[in-house]
Amino acid sequence: MDAIWLTPIYPSPLADYGYDVSDYTAIDPIYGNMDDFEELLYECHQRGLKVILDMVLNHTSSEHAWFKESRSSRDNPKRDFYIWRDGRAPGKPPNHWLSVMEGSAWTLDEGTGQYYYRAFLPEQPDINWRNPEARRAMLDACRFWLDKGVDGFRLDVVNYLHEDEQLRDNPRKIGIRPYEMQKHVYDRCQPEDHDVVRELRSILDEYPGAMMVGETYTDDPAEAAAYLGDGTDELHLAFNFDFAMTKWSAGRFQRSVGRWEELIPEAGWPAYFLSNHDMPRHVNRLGRIGDKGVRARVAAVMLLTLRGTPFLYYGEEIGMPSSSVPRKRLRDPVGIRFWPLPVGRDCARTPMQWNSGAYAGFSRVEPWLPVDKSYKKVNVETQIREQNSLLGFYRRLLRLRKEKPALQVGKYRALPGSDMGMFAYFREGEEDRIAVLLNFTNRPFTLNGKAARIEGGPWRILLSTYPGKEGGFLPDGIILDPGEAIIMEEIKELEK
Ligand code: NOJ
Repeated sequence: MDAIWLTPIYPSPLADYGYDVSDYTAIDPIYGNMDDFEELLYECHQRGLKVILDMVLNHTSSEHAWFKESRSSRDNPKRDFYIWRDGRAPGKPPNHWLSVMEGSAWTLDEGTGQYYYRAFLPEQPDINWRNPEARRAMLDACRFWLDKGVDGFRLDVVNYLHEDEQLRDNPRKIGIRPYEMQKHVYDRCQPEDHDVVRELRSILDEYPGAMMVGETYTDDPAEAAAYLGDGTDELHLAFNFDFAMTKWSAGRFQRSVGRWEELIPEAGWPAYFLSNHDMPRHVNRLGRIGDKGVRARVAAVMLLTLRGTPFLYYGEEIGMPSSSVPRKRLRDPVGIRFWPLPVGRDCARTPMQWNSGAYAGFSRVEPWLPVDKSYKKVNVETQIREQNSLLGFYRRLLRLRKEKPALQVGKYRALPGSDMGMFAYFREGEEDRIAVLLNFTNRPFTLNGKAARIEGGPWRILLSTYPGKEGGFLPDGIILDPGEAIIMEEIKELEK
């Protein structure tokens, strides 16, 4: 089953691209209205597509009515919806916690003389999840959308919901950015988060087929996997940032996948992504200048053949690059504040490139961000016509995935070779067995002799990044062309 994840579409002052929500049960007029949304949902469902919404539970916009009330006075009934504390001393925030975006995580509210906590921007005050009314209001918002028929949620920074009640300072560690110089033991991944996620799961379970994927943003995959609970009682899926941040190396990817496989509970299910709206696109991060998209294809085969649910980020299927957005056109608060180091996230948020016409066919009016200059060549319309385009390749891969049960649900088993630059694995189903061989090097890959034989077989090539090999058999001894990725299926006894 395919699904679309929409990043936030609720009313928002857009301090952080909609991740600052000022009303959880409406649509921002810049995108349309509720009728438009219902039509979209209906049309997607007609086409067998599910729709999941981005739920921002950790914080609201500072323009949300709850926060406006909360900050109006110390004894306002909504005061406790947010996290208010006195400073440690005049001019000193309550503790050393840092914002993911920049500086102290505490903002002084002049009016009431207290600080409020916000893990992101000052415009994104954190909800106090220990307040039962705030908790109910947030969960009711989730119900609102489920009742409308949405198929679930992507939960924004779900591992940031609670903070240590005693506000203990985090231990220090070595890092480059100030945020990385703290071990985030007290300001994220708190045990109480799991109660919330369990409650949310029981709500989702009332809606057959609904699912939630958590943005479990941490550098420790074990912490992320913990949000899957026992595989049936918390998140359905958790984003694995360790995999997404992995450098181009067969060994590293194999280790990352192996670790994730071990961490996923028996009843749980993995998920993988390589690009999203918060990081430079992987075609640039993992690729090499002049490699003509070779690595992008190897990465696509990996993403779409591992055991788990793959998430594709718009444009990766045509190889849209990270764009150099001129400084004066930046919209991302991170980019505006820190450019050029880092450049911010706008590089991955430029308009989808549909065709070579005005604004790449994305819009009839000037879009928020400029269209990347590659659009004349890198666009959907052109790639639909091209013989061997990346888009065509993704489509073949996706078709294959749908056709082969082993690729959907088969077990994952790694094969040797990663120390030499080949990441290879089996997907073993009840009826079929698939082998995936990925040559991470730009040299031909040969292993002669015993180690080179893939057990079982004969192996028929279903797909290769080198056209023309499909239908053929893998010769004894693995031989891959430079940067080649192949998918093979074992031919059953009877057919031999
Ligand atoms: C994670 C989102 O993906 C990111 O875009 C946003 O800035 C933060 N959460 C804050 O909501």
